[in-house]
Amino acid sequence: MQLTSILGFINETNLAETARDWTGLISAAYLVAGILFLLSLGGLSNQESARRGASFGMAGMLLAIVATYFNAQVDGSPLAIGMMVVGGAIGVVLAKRVEMTSMPQLVAILHSFVGLAAVLIGFSSFIGPAHALVGAERTIHNIEIYLGVLIGAVTFTGSVVAYGKLDGRLSSAALILPARHFLNLIILGLCIWLGVLFVQADTMAGGMWPLVGMTVLALAFGVHMVMAIGGADMPVVISMLNSYSGWAASAIGFMLANNLLIITGALVGSSGAILSIIMCDAMNRKFLSVIMGGFGTTSASASSGEAVDQGETVPITPEETAQLIKDSKSIVIVPGYGMAVSHAQHPIAELARRLRAAGKNFRFAIHPVAGRMPGHMNVLLAEAKVPYDIVLEMDEINEDLPEVDVVIVIGANDIVNPSALDEPDSPIAGMPVLEVWKSKNVIVSKRSMAVGYAGVQNPLFFKDNTQMLFGDAKASMDGILAALGDLPVKNGKKTAKV
Ligand code: TAP
Repeated sequence: MQLTSILGFINETNLAETARDWTGLISAAYLVAGILFLLSLGGLSNQESARRGASFGMAGMLLAIVATYFNAQVDGSPLAIGMMVVGGAIGVVLAKRVEMTSMPQLVAILHSFVGLAAVLIGFSSFIGPAHALVGAERTIHNIEIYLGVLIGAVTFTGSVVAYGKLDGRLSSAALILPARHFLNLIILGLCIWLGVLFVQADTMAGGMWPLVGMTVLALAFGVHMVMAIGGADMPVVISMLNSYSGWAASAIGFMLANNLLIITGALVGSSGAILSIIMCDAMNRKFLSVIMGGFGTTSASASSGEAVDQGETVPITPEETAQLIKDSKSIVIVPGYGMAVSHAQHPIAELARRLRAAGKNFRFAIHPVAGRMPGHMNVLLAEAKVPYDIVLEMDEINEDLPEVDVVIVIGANDIVNPSALDEPDSPIAGMPVLEVWKSKNVIVSKRSMAVGYAGVQNPLFFKDNTQMLFGDAKASMDGILAALGDLPVKNGKKTAKV
């Protein structure tokens, strides 16, 4: 059938118009979508069920979009369909192109879109339908608009700055303005005052200037808030902005009287808030202190981003590392951001397979903020088909480390830095770390003596039991595998080479 006849058919049957009367069906679809989102969150809380959780989320979102299109409040014009097709196509291209290492930046910029949408919808709602309302209904709607624009504007600029920091376009060091808490307090006071003026205003012009004034202040606050957060605390910022984007979506839901958006936004908002608290616990930070700025402030020497010489380092070759591994009974791998950069997870998974077949006690130790996004290392190891039962969290393995023969740190730095425990002035002071220096031997695989994300030198590299395996992590792991050759399997009949 030709395109014109298909369009003619749609026109004649007036499908969208008919469907807009299906209010009950649309409510049922929203309910099912809400349940799918809950199932999705449940699935995503566990590695084994994460893929299923993502599928539930996608199905829920598809159902929500289709049901919303047929909602009587929605103008199902070809323009809306065109915008969805163009937006969807851009999304597919971006998602396909983005490297795993750039996912945090992508997530940050997507959060900024939600914030921007809340601001734009707030303004259009104020200029448009809100103006026809009167009395208490109007007051409530204006409060919804004001809060939606406020949260949206903070989310928008905060997420753009987070994108800049994660992408290396802005310095990861904290920008601490003098009297920053006082500045924040003034902004808060002004926003409350403008809010009162906005809600009391009788005319559009009378309400517009407080709304614009607050938007400018909230945009500035978003920049200030995230600029003041230092590199090591960025994980909390990511989850916090995730939470803000959820509340911004929820506020849009109130403005548009869309129950599904309210529920979905609240789910994202509260799960982001819970994740932020988990991140703060993992890093031994107080949530309020992080979002007010101040933690993660780098000292003069550390913030330069340059490594400070703290003595001699002892280099080691892949061949020598292979020999050390052969002579060891228990081996622990600590992966970090560098493993993601070099795509070393596949040779590492192969190493795990061979050494386990050879009867070695081989495990992975995962720090909660390793890499650049929550669960980053778990995702990469799962992708390389590493069994979940040998992947242990920091709390589960720290106590065992003194008994371990060799720990191989692969592209990790801040998460194994002893100065977090020893140096009260360090930007990462107080952050729990993997205490790898307590093991018998430590091999650190990285390319140079460069510092990690927080910009601090790592005394681990200069310890007596540490040896440095310089080079790209994947090349080093390939070298170790080649030098290991065939290993006898535990029963002695076969070799462990795959
Ligand atoms: P980092 O401290 O950033 O250290 C990574 C190390 O990998 C670098 O020192 C780098 O040294 C090395 N590296 C880079 N490319 C490599 C390659 N191709 N081969 C071998 N090594 C390579 O990473 P981490 O230990 O995983 O700690 C994470 C840090 O990021 C923490 O400070 C955390 O707060 C922060 N952060 C985390 C998140 C989340 S949610 N996880 C989000 C934002 C920020 P060379 O250059 O010498 O090779």
